[in-house]
Amino acid sequence: MKIGVIGAGSISGAHFESYANNEQAEIFAICDLNETRAKQKAEQYGATHTYTGYHELLANKEVEAVSICTWNNTHAEIAIAALQAGKHVLVEKPLCKTVEDALAVEEAVKSSGKTLQVGFVRRYAANTEIVKRFIDNGDLGDIYYAKATCLRRLGNPGGWFADKERSGGGPLIDLGVHIIDICWYLMGKPKVKSIRGNTYHQLGNRSNVEHLDFYKAADYDPNKNTVEDMANALITFENGASLMVDVSFTLHAKQDQMAVNLYGDKGGAELEPSLEIITEKYNTMLNATPQTDHHSFNFQQAFQNEIDYFVDTINGDKETRSPVSDGVEMMKILCGIYESSEKGKEIQF
Ligand SMILES: NC(=O)c1ccc[n+]([C@@H]2O[C@H](COP(=O)([O-])OP(=O)(O)OC[C@H]3O[C@@H](n4cnc5c(N)ncnc54)[C@H](O)[C@@H]3O)[C@@H](O)[C@H]2O)c1
Repeated sequence: MKIGVIGAGSISGAHFESYANNEQAEIFAICDLNETRAKQKAEQYGATHTYTGYHELLANKEVEAVSICTWNNTHAEIAIAALQAGKHVLVEKPLCKTVEDALAVEEAVKSSGKTLQVGFVRRYAANTEIVKRFIDNGDLGDIYYAKATCLRRLGNPGGWFADKERSGGGPLIDLGVHIIDICWYLMGKPKVKSIRGNTYHQLGNRSNVEHLDFYKAADYDPNKNTVEDMANALITFENGASLMVDVSFTLHAKQDQMAVNLYGDKGGAELEPSLEIITEKYNTMLNATPQTDHHSFNFQQAFQNEIDYFVDTINGDKETRSPVSDGVEMMKILCGIYESSEKGKEIQF
């Protein structure tokens, strides 16, 4: 299966490595606005075709499927063009910047009949798969509350990530998308009813801070920053369940924090920072630790599973685990949080 990768920056490395490990995939074409970057990756991974314009890559009839690893503001247009050119698509999270764009991508998926997988990579992680199996077998009962935190004390990636025009927002759309999605997915994808969100622009990007390293965009530039540095929200669903979330690119916190917890009427689960199943038996509370090689999100393994799954989906062996409809719902939630914050009141759906 001949693969094209559009966007050869930081995260593309995880796509390239995983395709290289998949026996059915061949890294065939690479496109980046930055020609040197595309050529370097082509040399490293043996791709025979490089481009600086994605339309040219899509015009190559041999390309069967593409990974889109570009700035968020380009996801929708590239995904639609790729689908119309008859390619299967794996698009990095977030699906796009707005609900309107998300619906347009969904329409293109329907009319093309091709597969589109949204890069909700946490769904493909082993710790998620373990918890999902407990949930599907009823061990947690009805999940009525979830709580997710992804706080970076220092970690605004700069460049396009910090430019609202290109990113759509800060830590909420970049990090929040992962943890909101994973809770929502494990809660059984309930319909959203209302959202109350807050975003804060209090600390800037703190590029003045020395002695600490963090994830950076390929074209790191600390001089522009138009995104929030912190966001929180309470999301309520039609079935009465609720989800509380907070995220930051920077915060006066002692350390980074990652937590994803789900609470049901029969049991609970902690996905992050370390896998745990919580229940009660014979009047005794039990904390059970599943025995697994990775007790939290394992980046490499999750990306490999995601790419393998994408390839299997194209081959018709599996149904995608992160379809475009879920990408649309996630855009409704993320945009709802921004809207609620802007209006200073709860948003009803
Ligand atoms: N799943 C994850 O855990 C994860 C992690 C990091 C980033 N991401 C997502 O991956 C995407 C890329 O992030 P990154 O960190 O690699 O950014 P990056 O800035 O390091 O790389 C983006 C690359 O895309 C190229 N590009 C932008 N627009 C283009 C276009 N129209 N045509 C061709 N090339 C174009 C840029 O030149 C750059 O090389 C974003 O959507 C981001 O949200 C996902």
